[in-house]
Amino acid sequence: MRRLSPAGRKALLTAHLATSLGWLGTDLTLLALGVAGLRGADPDVVYPAAALLVTWLFAPLSVAVWLIGTASALLTPWGLLRWRWVLVKFALTTVMLGLVLLLLTPRIRHLGALAGAADAHLRVDLVAPPAVSTTLLLIATVLSVWKPWGRIRRAGPPVSRRGGRRGPGGRPSPGGTRNRTAAPAR
Ligand code: HEM
Repeated sequence: MRRLSPAGRKALLTAHLATSLGWLGTDLTLLALGVAGLRGADPDVVYPAAALLVTWLFAPLSVAVWLIGTASALLTPWGLLRWRWVLVKFALTTVMLGLVLLLLTPRIRHLGALAGAADAHLRVDLVAPPAVSTTLLLIATVLSVWKPWGRIRRAGPPVSRRGGRRGPGGRPSPGGTRNRTAAPAR
């Protein structure tokens, strides 16, 4: 797979951060609307607003995050199947993408159409799923920063378990959370 120039990689990472953390922010907003709806806020305002947000922001962002995240793995030395933290994030995001497109989006749009006529059971759809997905996105964010669990297949000799994640060539990387350059050397 062709690798990016340093500027191209920075541009891709910028897009990845903007979309993935935007996705998390939108999710939190949906959760806030859901809680407000259960606590008695005007359903004719809250649920149509949530339906708009899901349709025009949350669902498109979920596709963008999956595409740009996958490109961030494939076009950098991290690779998609080389590091456990990348693979787990990919799996989490893929499951979430399916749930958002197939379940959450149609249900919230239905809720938006019913608005004040929606029963309590349906209103919980705007609380429980966003609470779960927000948790998953926070886990993805933590994984991205800590990059735990090392390589899936290690080519070099075994490395020390101290110091957390592995760095270039399978060596333990120096500490710090912004050590993006610790991507494996190709
Ligand atoms: C298809 C799913 C995803 C894949 C394959 C993926 C893969 C990657 C890769 C390979 C990097 C390193 C890029 C580089 O060094 O140039 C990265 C960085 C990052 N990702 Fe993801 N990602 C995915 C989804 C997510 C999600 C859902 C979030 C959070 C909501 C997230 C948050 C981050 C953050 C904060 C960084 C920056 C880490 C740093 O620079 O130290 N990613 N991702």
